[in-house]
Amino acid sequence: MSNQALVSLEHISKSFPGVKALNDISIDFLPGRVHVLLGENGAGKSTIIKVISGVYQADEGNLLLRGVKEKFTNTRESLAKGISIIHQELSVISDLTIAENIFLGREPKTAFKTIDKKRMNQETAKLLESLDLKLNPNTYIRRLTNGDKQMVEIARAVSQNSSMVIMDEPTSSLSEKEVAALFKVINSLRADGVAIIYISHRLKEIRAIGDDITILRDGNVVLTTPLSEITEEEMVNKMVGREMTQFYFRAENAIKDEIVLDVKGLSRKGVFHDISFQLKRGEILGVAGLIGAGRTEVMRAIFGADPIDAGSIQLYGEPFQPKSVDDAVSAGIGLVPEDRRGQGLLLDKDVALNTTLASLFVKSNKGLIDFDWEKTASEEYVVKMRTKTPSIRQRIKNLSGGNQQKVVIARWLLAGSKILILDEPTRGIDVNAKAEIYNLMKEFVEAGCSIIMVSSDLPEILGVADRVMVMREGTVSGFLDISEASEEKIMGLSSLGGNK
Ligand SMILES: Nc1ncnc2c1ncn2[C@@H]1O[C@H](COP(=O)(O)OP(=O)(O)OP(=O)(O)O)[C@@H](O)[C@H]1O
Ligand SMILES: [Mg+2]
Repeated sequence: MSNQALVSLEHISKSFPGVKALNDISIDFLPGRVHVLLGENGAGKSTIIKVISGVYQADEGNLLLRGVKEKFTNTRESLAKGISIIHQELSVISDLTIAENIFLGREPKTAFKTIDKKRMNQETAKLLESLDLKLNPNTYIRRLTNGDKQMVEIARAVSQNSSMVIMDEPTSSLSEKEVAALFKVINSLRADGVAIIYISHRLKEIRAIGDDITILRDGNVVLTTPLSEITEEEMVNKMVGREMTQFYFRAENAIKDEIVLDVKGLSRKGVFHDISFQLKRGEILGVAGLIGAGRTEVMRAIFGADPIDAGSIQLYGEPFQPKSVDDAVSAGIGLVPEDRRGQGLLLDKDVALNTTLASLFVKSNKGLIDFDWEKTASEEYVVKMRTKTPSIRQRIKNLSGGNQQKVVIARWLLAGSKILILDEPTRGIDVNAKAEIYNLMKEFVEAGCSIIMVSSDLPEILGVADRVMVMREGTVSGFLDISEASEEKIMGLSSLGGNK
């Protein structure tokens, strides 16, 4: 019986108002195997793991644990039966330390029934070491980078000694080094016979770590197969349901000889130093660099979200000193932030409001929203961007991750931004939606606008940018014209030492 599935789904269906998220899903998850779930944004991946872990209950079908029917009504129950989950969105608590987060709800006790802090910290230290993390167990979560927060989530899940560990896009905010550490952990979990469910949109990564793969489309299983029996191209075609002929889109002759943005010597103490670059009309400037190089911080300063200590910005030849985000928005600058849930979205509001948010000050009359306009405009963008939502009245938090991102991008397109700053715009976005976003970017620059795109995805930078600015440790380490750029050259400029 060693090949018995640890968890089986049998004919599972699950609907939300207006959406059939899962339709007759049957999958076996085996011990000692990494089972990948792949599918477009909104295909149902997160819903599957939420049904397994008891966040949602299925409308129909059975969940079997080692062949026995189970019904979990919350994650505490599934955890008690050995199922750990790392959610797509961070769930660590900012005001607790790393150790407190890891042992939350199961703190070791002393003989006097008080919390055994010493043991908690010791065990956390051991755990962090096994993940190659140089962090102090007593550090507060709020002081960590997103990547480190994600690693703490992973550490917590791993420390629960579960027989199944579920990871929903665990690597979307991790650096390459952290991904390597995570893969080491996954390999040792697999060797211990743990069943792993792994969700990611990164095909290379899936290939590197997966044993089996189930491809989903619109809530249906398209196929389940060992990864050794499928090519990347087949994966993509199965997932989008047609042959993808073009992925990257590039505008021809969009660049005009006019400098729209001229940044000189921009500095912010301890964050970035002496940043200078220019952006032309119709240009897409890619900004590459390692996580932590200061790319996001520079963009936030240009957007008026953070102050600067020195330097100047010229916009269309005029001095530009944004005191706030409103100044930047009025001047025609839009920013799609890296952390869309934290900074980009009003989660409890609907798609319509989230789409029109940056345009409201133009379109509202004496403080009243023009609802007809709101409806028409947001519906237009739902169609244009193929955003998957039952209606524009759906709360944004109920959309899948990638579809939320489309709404934030739509917001700035609608607001008529002339300069769009995109910070990791396609993180967590499926291949098809990515291609749609690249195409929208092309149309945007063809219409005479300009884009700065911060991205850690080098093929993406090489695929769509006209020029690349590379940052390293808070400074600009070089520029590459796209005709001379390569992954090797960008990496060389990104890392210390600066050699190839
Ligand atoms: N609580 C909810 N209320 C309403 N609709 C929901 C809810 N949760 C998910 N959905 C819908 O169910 C469908 C499947 O969503 P799910 O989050 O499982 O997609 P996903 O495959 O994880 O996508 P992504 O790659 O973007 O994370 C989507 O259409 C989504 O909008
Ligand atoms: Mg998801």
